[in-house]
Amino acid sequence: MSLKLDYSNPLEKGGKIFNLPALRQLGPGPCNVSRKVLSAMMFEPLPPPSRVFIKKYRVSARSFRAVRLREPPRLSTRALPAYVIDVQLAGLSKQAGADWPSLCEEVQKMVKYLFQTKNPMTLVVQSSGNGGNEAMVTNLADPGDTVIVATAGVWGVKVADMARRYRLNVVELTKPPGEVYSYEELEEQIVKHKAVALFVTHGESSGGTLQPLDGLADICHKYNCLLAVDAIVSLGIVPIFVDKWKIDAITGGSQKGLGAPAGMTLMTFSAEAHKRMQQKKWPPPYIFDMLSLADSWKCFDKPIKYHYTYGSPMLAAVRQALEEICEEGLENAWERHKKCTDLFVSQLPKLGMKHFVEKPENRLFGVTCAVLPKDVKMTVLLDYLYERYETEIGFGIGPTAGAGVVRVGFLAQNAKPDVVEYFVKALEDAIGHCRDHSRMNGFDKDDDIIIAM
Ligand SMILES: Cc1ncc(COP(=O)(O)O)c(C=O)c1O
Repeated sequence: MSLKLDYSNPLEKGGKIFNLPALRQLGPGPCNVSRKVLSAMMFEPLPPPSRVFIKKYRVSARSFRAVRLREPPRLSTRALPAYVIDVQLAGLSKQAGADWPSLCEEVQKMVKYLFQTKNPMTLVVQSSGNGGNEAMVTNLADPGDTVIVATAGVWGVKVADMARRYRLNVVELTKPPGEVYSYEELEEQIVKHKAVALFVTHGESSGGTLQPLDGLADICHKYNCLLAVDAIVSLGIVPIFVDKWKIDAITGGSQKGLGAPAGMTLMTFSAEAHKRMQQKKWPPPYIFDMLSLADSWKCFDKPIKYHYTYGSPMLAAVRQALEEICEEGLENAWERHKKCTDLFVSQLPKLGMKHFVEKPENRLFGVTCAVLPKDVKMTVLLDYLYERYETEIGFGIGPTAGAGVVRVGFLAQNAKPDVVEYFVKALEDAIGHCRDHSRMNGFDKDDDIIIAM
């Protein structure tokens, strides 16, 4: 057999190194992450089935021998480059060489605090927010079951799509932009369709709304319907009380209020949701099998089971971001996000702008959808902010698409009054620049910024 390659090596000698520009990420998320979170990502890969793991949890060594049997790599302090010493400064030294179960345990405790729950079935899924939502959809209902998806923007529409792909019978509700659902109309739909689950988006980052939740589960439970919530963008930003509000399933994103990179989803399930999973007739997709994943997180008193290997640097980043919220205190994090959003919204009139969501009680905090002055061309504005201020914000999608809306996020470590003040000045300058640009080049309608959602 000839070993001559059919296709040549794509790597050019001396080729460019891919380098992400260091931008201020003031869109709807991801946001910038703290230095400690970045440092935590230098964490060495950690193999879940390790010898420590087997010893500590008395799992049969034989069952793991075929997979992998070695200690998690230990960092020798002498050989540590500067950035790993940062990890130690960040208080992560005990993790270097720690084992998977202790890391899970620590993360789990903090995730429970963030969700305000004692649910044993609390874990982090290695998937982006959409993956977490797909895990909820496919674990709470069987093909043929009727579920209601109350959409308020693109994220709910995606959940409905996921549910249809899994052959659920989907009742997709819609709302005019800026509106939220009343409990009466949701109750009417649950009764009418005998739905087994209701899916709602708590914070809709595409439309800027915040769906009230307190008391909604009581209505759902009267009809044996579970309440599942997408809190990808609202967790850590606005109050969420999973136990008090009796929410059955909920997702929270890593890249929003938490301040970690994207790619992980925090989740928790009630005892009822757990029971539903055990009664399911049709298994969920392997990767989203929450019962199996719960065993890999030792949520219950059962032997730990391997489900998949986590990218431990990502888990360490999430752990570090959680630690930062815990240090600050959840109520303080909520208050900080609210203050920054209020500050930004209070500045809109002087910029000739207004909030996209008319009723203040329907507005999401953290991410604000704001309407630009009519004579400002969005593409010119976004380019200017990017080039002059190294700042990126979001443009309208779903309910806010084509409405001259920018989506501005002051999330996690970007939720600071001086960041808001800096951005308002930048925006004021950018609006002035857009007007100069129009005077010189004429004002034409904005080219559509299309990102197919
Ligand atoms: C409310 C909401 N749900 C789901 C998602 C999807 O998250 P991801 O892009 O991490 O899959 C987002 C992302 O912005 C979101 O804001």
